[in-house]
Amino acid sequence: MKRVGIGVIGCGVISGAYLTAAKGFPILDIRGLADMNPAAADARAKEFGLKAMSVEALLADPTVEIVLNLTIPKAHVAVGLRALDAGKHVYSEKPLGVAFKDGKKLIERAAQKKLRVGSAPDTFLGGAHQTCRKLIDAGKIGIPVGGTAYFMCPGHERWHPQPDFYYQKGGGPVLDMAPYYITDLVNLLGPVARVSAMTSMPKPKRTITSQPRQGETIPVEVATHAAGVLEFVSGALVQMSMSFDVPAHRHLPIEIYGTKGSLVVPDPNRFGGEIEFAAQKDKWLPLKTELPYADGNYRSIGLADMAHALRSRRPHRASGALALHVLEVMEAFDRSAKSGKAIAITTRPERPAPLEESLVRRKLAA
Ligand SMILES: NC(=O)c1ccc[n+]([C@@H]2O[C@H](COP(=O)([O-])OP(=O)(O)OC[C@H]3O[C@@H](n4cnc5c(N)ncnc54)[C@H](O)[C@@H]3O)[C@@H](O)[C@H]2O)c1
Repeated sequence: MKRVGIGVIGCGVISGAYLTAAKGFPILDIRGLADMNPAAADARAKEFGLKAMSVEALLADPTVEIVLNLTIPKAHVAVGLRALDAGKHVYSEKPLGVAFKDGKKLIERAAQKKLRVGSAPDTFLGGAHQTCRKLIDAGKIGIPVGGTAYFMCPGHERWHPQPDFYYQKGGGPVLDMAPYYITDLVNLLGPVARVSAMTSMPKPKRTITSQPRQGETIPVEVATHAAGVLEFVSGALVQMSMSFDVPAHRHLPIEIYGTKGSLVVPDPNRFGGEIEFAAQKDKWLPLKTELPYADGNYRSIGLADMAHALRSRRPHRASGALALHVLEVMEAFDRSAKSGKAIAITTRPERPAPLEESLVRRKLAA
């Protein structure tokens, strides 16, 4: 299969994980790296033996078919629209955008131009999450009744060198971390119908403790603690809490409850992890992860699936429609908190097709 030319825009922290994992997916032909800060592109180009170029040159390069957009969240839609207008497909880091209306504009522009949009997260394609999907689809837990989803930490100013964007409009724990959780939940349970939530901002300022800006105080513009309930179209109800204000807790990332048993789903920010099942109280059993891509960093598998999909003219799994739905659900947290009402979700993406082992081995890795 002819390789697909990829141009990367945004060469910050996460670009290292992509460029490392991309080496495992031969379909991906990284043609060049660009950043509004040319020094960032130069540094990654040197590190990975690739070519640094300006954003303009990358968008004008006819060998670039997909722009991999690894810029910060509030730049995702603007950079994505520029790429579409240059005739490129786009695969974006999460979230798709910081507002549903902007994400919708991106998807509509792509449809007009007959181009594709893909989006992170792609961790739901990891072996552990695909195994959970297979178990639920096979009826292991009976009828899904509900579940829980928790991400709570003390904030990213402990480790990220430039943590400002996490606390500015378009940041916060829901837009930052819920994409992993909601995408995995949609993979497991189907789309969301309604959201009811409340949010808070306990600290209006944060002090950076990472280098190089240790001791600097940054303002907080968004809610940093959120609790809500997602009602799925299937009828399942999932409680969710996302926070940058919690030093410690004892909840598991995702649990799914069904009429015949309960499933512990591993951390959706990772590709692998322990799966456990219990049909009775306190009788938890580990279950084997059956599918590959569960034992490391595969951040770019969603892009590789999109590249293969492009060549074989099939739908890709980490799709713009899925990411737009996730964005609508995330925005509903804020809308529900502000209005005091449950918010109906209008988008209804297809559940992404499961990854089959044979397909994974033959097509993505070969
Ligand atoms: N850091 C992580 O661990 C992590 C993990 C998963 C996902 N992400 C996501 O990846 C994205 C990037 O995060 P990061 O941590 O790499 O951020 P970062 O700040 O380290 O890097 C972003 C880069 O994009 C560049 N940039 C910003 N706007 C641009 C524009 N308009 N045009 C060209 N370049 C532009 C910046 O100069 C910077 O080099 C975010 O959406 C984030 O949510 C980050």
